[in-house]
Parts: sequence; structure tokens; C-alpha cells
Amino acid sequence: MSTIPIVPDSGTAYGRKAPTHKAELTEVGAGTPMGELLRRYWHPIGLTRDASDTPREVRVLGETLILFRDGEGRAGVVHPRCAHRGASLYYGKVEARGIRCCYHGWLFDVQGHCLEQPCEPQLGERSRGKVRQPWYPVQERYGLIWLYLGPPDCKPLLPHYDALEVVETGEFIEADDSSIGGGGPQIIPCNWLQHYENLVDPFHVPILHASFSGTQFVPAMAVMPEVEFETVEAGVRTTSLRQLPDGTTLRRISEAALPTLRVIPNPRIGSYGRVESIGWVLPLDDHHFRIYVAGRVKASGDLVRMRSRLNGKLWEELTPEEHQRFPGDYEAQVSQGPIGAHSEEHLVTSDRGIVMIRKLLRRQLDALREGRDPAGIVRDPQAGPVRFAAGNYLLQRDSAQPQPALD
Ligand code: FES
Ligand SMILES: [Fe+2]
Repeated sequence: MSTIPIVPDSGTAYGRKAPTHKAELTEVGAGTPMGELLRRYWHPIGLTRDASDTPREVRVLGETLILFRDGEGRAGVVHPRCAHRGASLYYGKVEARGIRCCYHGWLFDVQGHCLEQPCEPQLGERSRGKVRQPWYPVQERYGLIWLYLGPPDCKPLLPHYDALEVVETGEFIEADDSSIGGGGPQIIPCNWLQHYENLVDPFHVPILHASFSGTQFVPAMAVMPEVEFETVEAGVRTTSLRQLPDGTTLRRISEAALPTLRVIPNPRIGSYGRVESIGWVLPLDDHHFRIYVAGRVKASGDLVRMRSRLNGKLWEELTPEEHQRFPGDYEAQVSQGPIGAHSEEHLVTSDRGIVMIRKLLRRQLDALREGRDPAGIVRDPQAGPVRFAAGNYLLQRDSAQPQPALD
């Protein structure tokens, strides 16, 4: 006889505790543990064309900044509030040597030096030299604008990536900022970690992307994979093996790399081989992120053409009811809340990758606390491009199993 007391209606929602989130992994403002960790790396904050003679407001890690390109072609990022009396440089005028504040005309270059104070003709250089408009270092590569928001003496090199350096005949590099792969607005209204963790969640593919909402990629993705997770030096690598009906095996390797890289081979599998593109999850603040991608393409717009269709439509074409009936990554991740309610999760064996990526991030927080560089920082100018094992590989039945090149 069971001795478990029968509690009528146990498990109801009444009296449940307010959920909490893992602040040290999710919050990105200056001075927070994750905010400081992310500030040790370069982040893409715009496409090359976003820097122009029209000042553009950008949000990065909880900061609002102004991006512009001076008349000599240098991209600059400065704090919006003018060092004089705080008018926003969003209303500034971009000139050959920098950006000029609309209020009293102070002119700042891309490193915040004050070049002119037109209302102070007699004070000259001495007065200007006392002022510095706060700024951040900028670089451009792969069609993207990169920003470093960390301590100046910790600034690493901007890494090169093999996937974007070794280009086949007929391919070129293009960048895109349109949205997450499955579609959605440019700015996704939830915490960045929800998307980053999704990269080590291969089990959602046969459910969300291949059966629940119909086939979003290719039919092979509906096969439940055998999955191996592995922590590598600067990321978590996921290998998914799918036994296909024709006797071949699809070996799909994807990686979530530090700090926010998504190294995910095309789930539509146009061809086999190494990963075609790299994406970066940019936290705008604690409740919003966006994605930048750079990839090898054969025709302009290929990265956008990789977008999923749900019920035969692009995400933005769906009616509200179709969003409900044919959900994709956007619906799944945003509905987890502005920040995931971690205290209410029930992690199971298929969440091993998520546990591993959280541990990996925690180890980097420890490194920072102990005064060490976190993983994935490049300081050696002679270091070759960063290589990933990610790709889609087809293994023939009974053949010697070809291994993709690893490190
Ligand atoms: S507030 Fe910018 S020049 Fe005065
Ligand atoms: Fe997904």
C-alpha cells in the first residue's frame, strides 16, 4: 500500500515563487560580471555601410553610442552626450575631421579629441586639450564594424577566421544583419543568452524545425540525432549524427564559441563541407539582442536567402494566427521571457550542452576575477586564423568515415 498522502489538486499554480534568473550569466551592463567579460572581446556592432555621414545611434551592452564615418573615411564611435554641456551628437554634423556638436559647435575626431571650440577663439589649444569626448576603438573587417568596449590595456587583437579567410573560387564574403536564422525583426526582445544557448540545443531541431511547424529546413533534419557534446578550448562543439533512409549518415557539427559566436552550418544543406558563415549574438542590453553574420556567398543576398519559410511564408509575412500555429526560433526564444526564468527550469539529459556552455562561461568569469585572459582572446599577431570543425558532412555506408579537419 502506498503511503504517499493524496493531496487534492497538488501542483496548481497557486502560491508559486517569483522566478529568478542567473544574473551573472545574462546581465551585460558595465560593472556586471558578464558585462565585464564581454567587454574583453571585440563585437560587431554594425555593417560597414552603417557608418556614414549621418550619425547613427547604436545600443551595445547596455550603452547608447553614436556611430559615424568622417570625411576621410574613418569610422568612429563616441558617447552621445557632448563633453561640453551634453547635447546629443546624434544631432551632430559629420565633417572631414570628425563630428561637430549642433549646440556650440565643438568638433571631435574619431578618438574624441576636441579639434575646435568656435565660441572660445582666445583660449585655443589649451582649452581644447582639457576635453575628451568618450570614445571606443573601432575596426572594420568582413563587411562589419567592430567595437572594443573594454579596459584599454586589455585590448586583444581582432581575430581572423578561417571560414571567412579561405574563400573558394566564385565565393566572396558578405555580411548580413537581418535577423535570427528562422526570421524575425532585427532586434529580438529577449536576453542574448537564450539565443546563445539555443546553439547547443540540437534536439530542438527535429521538433521545432522539422515536425511541430512542418519542415523548415530539409526533411533530413526531422531525424532525431545521436548527439555528442564536447567542450573545446573556447566553446562547446556539438556533433549530431543522423542515420538517413538511404543508408548514409549525416554528420553535422556546430559550435558555440566565445564570446558570442554561432558557428552553425546551413541547416538547409545546399552542399556538404565546412561551415559557410559565422554569426555573432550582440547583446544590446539585458532584454534585447541582435545578430550579425558574415559568410562566404556566391551571389549577393545568399545569406538572407538561407531564411526559413513557415507555412510557405517568411516570418514577417505570417499572420498572428500563423505565428501561433507555425512557431520558429523567434517564438520559442522570445516566449521564454525577457530573461529566462532559470529558477523554474527542469534541465534533463538532452540539455547537456546548455549545462556545458554555462560552465564554460562561468570559467571565464573566474578567469577574469583571477586576473587572467578569458578563452578565445587573440594576442599573437602571428597566430593563424581561428578554425572550427563545424560543417555538414555526409558519410557513406560502410566507407571509412572521413573526418573533418579539426584544429
Ligand atoms: S553642448 Fe556640445 S558644443 Fe555645447
Ligand atoms: Fe533553432
